[in-house]
Amino acid sequence: MTIGILTSGGDAPGLNAVIRAIVFSGVQTHGLEFVGIRNGWKGLVTEDVFRLERRHIMGIGKQGGTILGTSRTNPFDHGGEERVREVMAAHSMDALVVIGGEGTLAAAKRLTDVGLPIVGVPKTVDNDLDATDYTFGFDTAVQIATEAMDRLRTTGDSHDRCMVAEVMGRHAGWIALHSGVAAGAHAILIPEHKTSIEQICDWVTKAHDRGRAPLVAVAEGFLLDTMTDVHSERGLDTFGRPRLGGIGEVLAPLIEQHTGIETRATTLGHIQRGGTPTAYDRVLATRLGWGALQRVLDRKWGYMVALKGTEIVDVPFEAALGSLKTVPDARYDEVRALFG
Ligand code: F6P
Repeated sequence: MTIGILTSGGDAPGLNAVIRAIVFSGVQTHGLEFVGIRNGWKGLVTEDVFRLERRHIMGIGKQGGTILGTSRTNPFDHGGEERVREVMAAHSMDALVVIGGEGTLAAAKRLTDVGLPIVGVPKTVDNDLDATDYTFGFDTAVQIATEAMDRLRTTGDSHDRCMVAEVMGRHAGWIALHSGVAAGAHAILIPEHKTSIEQICDWVTKAHDRGRAPLVAVAEGFLLDTMTDVHSERGLDTFGRPRLGGIGEVLAPLIEQHTGIETRATTLGHIQRGGTPTAYDRVLATRLGWGALQRVLDRKWGYMVALKGTEIVDVPFEAALGSLKTVPDARYDEVRALFG
């Protein structure tokens, strides 16, 4: 059996650990062969593929990024089912494992609906896919954001400034919530809860009055109550979604103006997606890789592997798509009670 593997969409620390797990176990335990597809669906439709061997995966479990490369390409814009079938046949691929987020899995679902043999592995640092408790990459992003906030706090203390730390999180505030709690932020602002500048400044002033240099953690998808759209100054991505980033820079002067406290903003951006995955993410990615391989061996097409509690399970693509895992009100309320 020959299996094609691709990574698609924004990268996340742990992608290489998934690839390694599938190939290592596939070659060593099951005598399978693999085709590496470069740059996501783009490599599949342009036939940019290579024989993926054990030597390619040596030592990659701890490496960030993806040895296969990635892109935000929709195969249905480039020949769709017919082209995918053609290239799979040309390289004797009996199955595909696609590692990606919402867009990637949606394309995979359409292809399995017409009979193509595909298994999915979920990926998003935002941790906002409802069908899985956690995605690999999230823990790493939280760790990086927490370390950055710890650093911002010491310089904030030195200068008696309010520090605004902007983290990723398009629709869901998981990274902001977890890193903000870990770093002891005085306010955490997430996409799920619009908030007024007066409320934010009240929290900042309270913390400052207690002699603290206030730290505000904000997710890129956060909106002030006066905003109707997310802050975006860099146009749209290939899926037509606004490119985010910069809400921290919007908030900082407003906070300074309202409170009189000197304020600085730092946008962490792609730093959160780069570099070495944490041990937790390496293990989760490895287990998901093994899980995906098992589904291929079982010919369980149209399923995505997922983490439920501590178990690796599978869910049909249709159940995995279309429903976002946002921060529940109760989780936000318990931290909000301590802001200021
Ligand atoms: O969806 C994950 C994510 O990291 C978002 O948090 C962010 O808005 C987006 O990807 C950035 O995408 P790109 O790498 O295309 O700039």
